[in-house]
Amino acid sequence: MVCLGNICRSPLAEGILKSKLPESDFIVDSAGTGDYHVDDAPDPRSIEIAKKHGIDITSQRGRQFDVSDFDAFDYIYVMDSSNFENVVKLARNAKDIAKVHYILNEIYPNQNHNVPDPYTGGIQGFDDTFKMLDEACEVLAKKLQY
Ligand code: 4NP
Repeated sequence: MVCLGNICRSPLAEGILKSKLPESDFIVDSAGTGDYHVDDAPDPRSIEIAKKHGIDITSQRGRQFDVSDFDAFDYIYVMDSSNFENVVKLARNAKDIAKVHYILNEIYPNQNHNVPDPYTGGIQGFDDTFKMLDEACEVLAKKLQY
């Protein structure tokens, strides 16, 4: 799960998807394309929204997306078009590029919708982010367990 800072959207996406998959079978992680929040805990508003839904994301720490992630993971889900461009820029070949998907395409196929960045807004934006990601991860979790 990839966003820009790895403190608002992708930590939520990681926590939500993890909650829907058996831990023994899947490795779910998140990263930011930027390095502003390396080693930081998630934004307190993401922590709060996750907690409201019974998900604990407090132990997550920010890290920057690395080219080695193309080898470590089968699927890379981005939150928005700028994340998409930044991740694809690091791709080494067509196989890497084929791993990169917009998370909201799970519910709106081929539409490349963005999960808006809630960082500069209020708590409502985090609520909206949670709902979008929860819906997308519900579809994704079912698909991954086929
Ligand atoms: P995120 O939100 O990409 O959803 O984690 C952001 C958090 C921090 C910054 C940008 C986006 N920042 O520039 O510090």
